[in-house]
Amino acid sequence: MDLFQAITERKSIRAFKPDPVPKEKVEEILQWVTNAPSAINLQPWEFFVVMNEEKERLSRRLVKSYREKQISCSPGNVKPLADEFTKRGVQSFQLMDPYLKEMGKDFNAFINEGSCNFYGAPVAVILCLDNAFSKARLVDIGVALGYFVLVAQASGLATCPVGLINAYEDDIKETLDIPDNKEVVIGVALGHPDWDSPVNRFKTPREGLDSFVKWID
Ligand SMILES: Cc1cc2nc3c(=O)[nH]c(=O)nc-3n(C[C@H](O)[C@H](O)[C@H](O)COP(=O)(O)O)c2cc1C
Repeated sequence: MDLFQAITERKSIRAFKPDPVPKEKVEEILQWVTNAPSAINLQPWEFFVVMNEEKERLSRRLVKSYREKQISCSPGNVKPLADEFTKRGVQSFQLMDPYLKEMGKDFNAFINEGSCNFYGAPVAVILCLDNAFSKARLVDIGVALGYFVLVAQASGLATCPVGLINAYEDDIKETLDIPDNKEVVIGVALGHPDWDSPVNRFKTPREGLDSFVKWID
């Protein structure tokens, strides 16, 4: 699959088949991902790959914590967002909702508990950054995430980035024995898409370039 096809076909998948993904396949994806650029070639990313019973254990812990603490998916703004951003967020909820209604699911429960369960994917990858780095290095982790979702797509697998789990960093670190000096940046669900699930028919729209680009010449 070429890059443009992977970009066109990729979307976040929120229902996975239980079929396992071989360790070698995940290894191959990560090998490609490490070609990503990073500042001064520091390659600051660290990947904790969680599979099999350990992945189920992690999901159980996160879902339990979510039910106790009820911290939901949110963009975590530090100031009120401009209307244009808020509108995009609301629009994506509204567009996804009919698919969840078809499944008889409540939006919040599906997204929050689904995120904690990595939507049933057999593999959860947790991307971490050593806390000796400045926040500027989060960019490098974002670049690695971008590579990851596209390489996985090109390998015939599907993904969903999961930022919600950041709110449960302590649970993740304790469950997976991740050292204190590693910061959990983002998780990714990885597996085979369940195309029978209505939610996987959902595709987010994008604004035109005019919304994002200022030409200066
Ligand atoms: C940093 C980041 C965090 C995200 N966190 C979550 C999450 O916690 N739960 C979820 O269901 N989707 C999450 N997503 C997926 C986004 O909702 C999705 O990328 C966006 O709606 C665009 O849709 P697409 O990926 O299908 O193109 C996240 C994506 C990114 C890049």
